[in-house]
Amino acid sequence: MIQFILNDKTIQSGLSEGSTVLDFIRYEKQLTGTKIGCREGDCGACTVLIGELKNGDLVYQSMTSCITPLINVHGKHVLTIEGVNGELPTPIQELMVNNNGTQCGFCTPGFIMSFTGFALSEEKVDFKNVVKSIDGNICRCTGYKSIERAADAFCGQIKDKPKTEKISWLVEKGHLPKYMSEVASRLLDLQKELKSEVIPNHDYPEYFLGGGTDLLVQKPEAIRKASVKNKFDDQFLKGIQINDRICKIGASATVTDLVESAIFNSLFPNLEKHLKLVSSTPIRNMATLAGNFVNASPIGDMTIFFLALDSSIVLNNKGNTRILPLKNFFLDYKKIDKTPSEFIESIQFQIPKKTDHFNFEKVSKRTHLDIASVNSACQISLDKEEIISDIHISVGGVAAIPKYLFEASAFLKNKKLSDEVLNDFFKIVNKEVSPISDARGTAEYKRLLVRQLILAHFIEFFGAIEPITNKLLKNKIL
Ligand SMILES: Cc1cc2nc3c(=O)[nH]c(=O)nc-3n(C[C@H](O)[C@H](O)[C@H](O)COP(=O)(O)OP(=O)(O)OC[C@H]3O[C@@H](n4cnc5c(N)ncnc54)[C@H](O)[C@@H]3O)c2cc1C
Ligand code: FES
Ligand code: FES
Repeated sequence: MIQFILNDKTIQSGLSEGSTVLDFIRYEKQLTGTKIGCREGDCGACTVLIGELKNGDLVYQSMTSCITPLINVHGKHVLTIEGVNGELPTPIQELMVNNNGTQCGFCTPGFIMSFTGFALSEEKVDFKNVVKSIDGNICRCTGYKSIERAADAFCGQIKDKPKTEKISWLVEKGHLPKYMSEVASRLLDLQKELKSEVIPNHDYPEYFLGGGTDLLVQKPEAIRKASVKNKFDDQFLKGIQINDRICKIGASATVTDLVESAIFNSLFPNLEKHLKLVSSTPIRNMATLAGNFVNASPIGDMTIFFLALDSSIVLNNKGNTRILPLKNFFLDYKKIDKTPSEFIESIQFQIPKKTDHFNFEKVSKRTHLDIASVNSACQISLDKEEIISDIHISVGGVAAIPKYLFEASAFLKNKKLSDEVLNDFFKIVNKEVSPISDARGTAEYKRLLVRQLILAHFIEFFGAIEPITNKLLKNKIL
């Protein structure tokens, strides 16, 4: 039995583990304020907040309920638009009305949930961050400016929110209903109760399930009927640690876990800039690293990111583990070196030296909520004379697999960038990639993007070194 708190009620559900939270709340509980738009995580109409206790704190994240598997909310709090409403509209609901932020109203519950999630978060209260919190919500009517005005006024209302006891403060100011003050202690009681319950242990599941953001888009019906093993909440597959200069990340870490990790931010100072290009806030809250690797999309952003770190993955088969370089994991289109009973346990890479550089670039048709036409990452180690002592370059969207550029990377080792080196290098790159024309661009356009994105890495690394930038400009390479 899956158990959780839905708004103010503790719920038991006999639905299968792979059913969606959306179907449960709309069709089993008739809570129809949560809307169905795309059913693919794209529009945000179905956004709910999922709360769970982390180190004793109640933490909420926005998720798209249309692709959230029911098992992933076991023991947690699911907050829908009905659970936010008290007797009167909340201040953000008033602001949306007063600023004409709602017209047909179909998208509005999703926006309200994202704004409420922002109020509940640790994010600094400012206009940039509040707008970022709605990057997963689409509105067809308003043109967004009126919603941004409401968002701006909302910031003014919650700017004095204290760092501790924020739920009590939000309840006191009418942003949340009273029962929210009790949720943390109710979750604690629920967890104690669940500990004594025997959970079915699918040792041989048909599917390992991460956040479900690929599986529940690709085969929702099959997942609803299948035996699944929840990896999303497996604490053994969480956490980010550094030991002996090796960074080890649990395979179920989400993109948000990386963005919020102090360790990861210290290793990659531009992390936020890079990872905000990955989908949207709710999807980043759900999308795991293992899910991205195993989905084996040639344009998986996290795959491209970790390929350039020359990462390895640890695969676990009923307790036996093996370590495989990520660059050897992808065999052919959607074919990977993994048996059905193996799951990814962790990802590891050698932490970059202070003098190393890393960059990630992505070109897509839209900035947010879009997959890449071409993406690329590069890690480079330079010695004192600007000679490249080591380099790893990955490119997505230009082959049947997420591509690690074996030959081009090897060619640049122990060389210094010059016109001649660059010319020969790009000849090798061109041989290594084999893009096809599709909805994301022609093969020719993608070849051009590969070149430009790799040059973007070099500008990022060598931008301050005048001669090289000048040479690139002079020779019209830029
Ligand atoms: C609206 C939307 C936008 C998106 N935007 C982007 C984007 O910008 N960039 C991008 O790269 N991707 C994007 N994606 C794709 C997706 O979010 C990512 O690929 C994500 O990382 C998948 O992780 P998951 O945990 O949700 O995977 P799931 O759907 O849970 O699983 C995917 C695959 O991984 C397997 N799996 C999961 N965990 C394990 C494990 N520990 N061991 C072995 N197998 C496992 C599953 O069995 C399944 O085969 C988007 C998806 C949606 C719906
Ligand atoms: S219905 Fe569109 S994101 Fe869920
Ligand atoms: S108000 Fe109609 S879709 Fe947003």
